[in-house]
Amino acid sequence: MKGIVFTEFLELVETKFGIEMVDEIIEVSNLESGGAYTSVGTYKFSEMLSLLTNLSERTNISINDLLKVYGHHFFRVIEDSYQDILKMYKGPMDMISSIESHIHVEVRKIYPDAELPRFIIIEQTEEKLILEYFSSRSMYAFAHGLMEKTFQHYNHSATITYELIKDDGSHVKFVILKDAEPQT
Ligand code: HEM
Repeated sequence: MKGIVFTEFLELVETKFGIEMVDEIIEVSNLESGGAYTSVGTYKFSEMLSLLTNLSERTNISINDLLKVYGHHFFRVIEDSYQDILKMYKGPMDMISSIESHIHVEVRKIYPDAELPRFIIIEQTEEKLILEYFSSRSMYAFAHGLMEKTFQHYNHSATITYELIKDDGSHVKFVILKDAEPQT
């Protein structure tokens, strides 16, 4: 997993819960890296899982709720660093349906060792998008948060629901229903 995913996560933890919480979860997580992440480094996903588990225990917030909020935060990172990609799409449905065929393809060119999920489009119309998410990391709540912010970015709104096809969250079906009118 890329370092930026760790550095941004710890920055969010600091903003929401304070630097003491950052220090505490790093200490109790027994990390191979020692917790000294750089945005360009690559680290084991198991370290992210330990950090999330320890934060969840201390805050009584579920790992999925933490990941969804983290998805909201991470979209801002995307807005700051990947404007060119976002500008290529006319709207949120267009953008989300291109993650697999274009966006993550570009990400892999920049970071050949990126650990990315796979998305398969099941059904696509103007107002409806059904996608299936596949990843051994089961970060579907992070995807959900990113999708919500994608709609906000393009000044639209949607109802996004999901269903776990596999109990461990490694295969999840998303149904996205776009609202008719852009929000002002
Ligand atoms: C992971 C880039 C849009 C879903 C990642 C990672 C990067 C990235 C760098 C981390 C890879 C690693 O740690 O090895 C981008 C960029 C985007 C974009 C530049 C837009 C311009 C999206 C959107 C979604 C999404 C809109 C929402 C569906 C995910 C998920 C992961 C991920 C769920 C976590 C890994 C996993 O589940 O296996 N992305 N992403 N991405 N991305 Fe994207």
